[in-house]
Amino acid sequence: MKRILGLLPLLVSFSCLAQDIYTVQTKTIKARVPKTLWGLFFEDINRAADGGLYAEMIENRSFDFPKPMTAWQTWPNNLLRDGIFMVINQSAENAADPKYMRVTLKTKDTVGLINTGFDEGMPFKKGLPYNLTLRYRWQIAGIHVRIFLFNNKNRPIGRTAINLVAPNDGDWHNQQINLIPADTASRGKLLVVFEGQGQLDLDRVSLFPTETWKNRPGGLRADLVQKLYDLHPGFLRFPGGCIVEGNQIVHRYQWKNTIGNLEDRTMVQSIWADDVPDRQTPDYMESFGLGFYEYFQLCEDIGAEPLPIINAGLSCQFDAAEVVPTNELEPYITDALDLVQFANGDTNTYWGKRRAALGHPAPFNMKMLGVGNENWGPQYAEHLDIFTKRLKAKYPDLKLVNATGYSRNIPVFTYMDSVLRARHADIIDEHFYDTPKWFMDNSNRYDNYDRNGPKIFVGEYAAQSDRIGSMNNKNNLLTALAEACFMTGIERNAAVVSMASYAPLFAHVSGWQWTPNLIWFDNSKSYNTPNYYVQQLFSVNKGTEVVSLLKEGKAVCGQDSTWGSAVIDKDKRELIIKLVNMSAKPKAKNVRLDVTVMGTAMMEVLANNNTGIMNSIDHPDNIKPETKEFAVKGKDLEFTAAPYSLNIIKVKLK
Ligand code: AHR
Repeated sequence: MKRILGLLPLLVSFSCLAQDIYTVQTKTIKARVPKTLWGLFFEDINRAADGGLYAEMIENRSFDFPKPMTAWQTWPNNLLRDGIFMVINQSAENAADPKYMRVTLKTKDTVGLINTGFDEGMPFKKGLPYNLTLRYRWQIAGIHVRIFLFNNKNRPIGRTAINLVAPNDGDWHNQQINLIPADTASRGKLLVVFEGQGQLDLDRVSLFPTETWKNRPGGLRADLVQKLYDLHPGFLRFPGGCIVEGNQIVHRYQWKNTIGNLEDRTMVQSIWADDVPDRQTPDYMESFGLGFYEYFQLCEDIGAEPLPIINAGLSCQFDAAEVVPTNELEPYITDALDLVQFANGDTNTYWGKRRAALGHPAPFNMKMLGVGNENWGPQYAEHLDIFTKRLKAKYPDLKLVNATGYSRNIPVFTYMDSVLRARHADIIDEHFYDTPKWFMDNSNRYDNYDRNGPKIFVGEYAAQSDRIGSMNNKNNLLTALAEACFMTGIERNAAVVSMASYAPLFAHVSGWQWTPNLIWFDNSKSYNTPNYYVQQLFSVNKGTEVVSLLKEGKAVCGQDSTWGSAVIDKDKRELIIKLVNMSAKPKAKNVRLDVTVMGTAMMEVLANNNTGIMNSIDHPDNIKPETKEFAVKGKDLEFTAAPYSLNIIKVKLK
């Protein structure tokens, strides 16, 4: 009885509402849905890599930060003064890994080094093993080392001695040990204690949870990769974003510097360390522990096509806009050509062999490559011409992604767009950071794009609740639904838009420089934004063929405050309708089909009366999709779209 009474208000409200009528033509296929349609944009911004996805817990593990004591303290304090601890800079000997810590104990002292971890400190889970690696070299043997894990209150919750067994042969050695904390801590620290007499050089102190994604040693945070996996991404674009360009050309991303031994990966200061005046993070370095091999591996793990972006011989055009003269472009082009060989070459090739030596003899099967991020203007066009000729001469099937600057419909964009169309570019990358209204008003953007021209990659987009670049932008329901409106337009135009990715992907709740972002995390937890759920609902329900969803013969782009699109999943024999209700009122809908359906329709709904609603670390489930069902019989799908809702309606076809 309770259940029936519960249903009554719904029935009453449905019968009182005038129905909005739509039609779906399941038998006329408008386009195939590309497998790549919904994907991911990854950039090491907001501590997405170091201090985020890359599970290293020690900040500045090799003392190579510009200020080598960043995140380190001596114990007791001030021991740098009397020479017990000294940072040695051997850049002439080893430019990639120039600095190390020398510990000199002349009398039988007990001293230590404390690492405070990234941002809020190190999270420890009771009973979970943590793997500590020391890279060291003896000068004079005789120092004993003990390791302590501390909790938030500086009490030890784990301790062990590590016996440095390597000979005093002048070489560097790695030694590992596992520590299991007896308690859980959210903001812990690590203390390395040195006792005895002697001299020891330390080049890396590293601590990883053993519980990483696929339990890979030195791997990625399992909870964060799981979130990517759950999005069923069609592709992963990496490593950015502006970090591809760098704020100086010497700080550009160079993939060869990111593979192989950790000590060969030269650290670079992130463009995001000082580019945002309100969110300065001077300690933001790129260690490249998450490097190109790991990116390709990640793509494979989450079933995403790899889309690396390489530098086109230009630094960030918002900063200095350093341009490499065309007669000096060769190393940049070589890097691009070698990257294709690294990803796809057989093991007889130089770079294919390198890949195999890293653990992946099979090719990564890379089909796309981006040349330049948010570049524009005649210099970029000139560089592209050279890159394209050289890449296509060797790899004619490789699809190249080309940029159109940083925004739409401005001279920067229109110039690049016309150049790229005239050159029959494979894929054009467009970026949109704009108001929710803009996203709603522009769901028809691609309706008239040339079906025979280049494919479109909506490479970065996100609705901004405040204004572009504002530090007050929020990941709320309004922005998520506005993006959903725009995404119905992308889906409807899948004949021309082959890929789309929200940007940026990740942000640390206390280490960010940019907002909004799809997934927020702290050092141990993470949460999905409403925008994440919109991406997921579209991606998981992307179907295989686009069909028409019409209102009086027209695409559904705002009539009845509603946006919509429809696909068929021919493998599951399912019709999937996506409808966004941007009204504050419930709306009775009737979708008339050209086929008879029977049984139950499933409805996944992301909705709330309050468009400002958000999730957070402490309240990760304030808003998330809910599943409902309703009975269907005949050719009419009748249901109510809740106020401010994205509705995914799935019904089995015969
Ligand atoms: O997504 C954040 C930044 O926005 C990217 O690095 C850049 O490509 C764009 O300007």
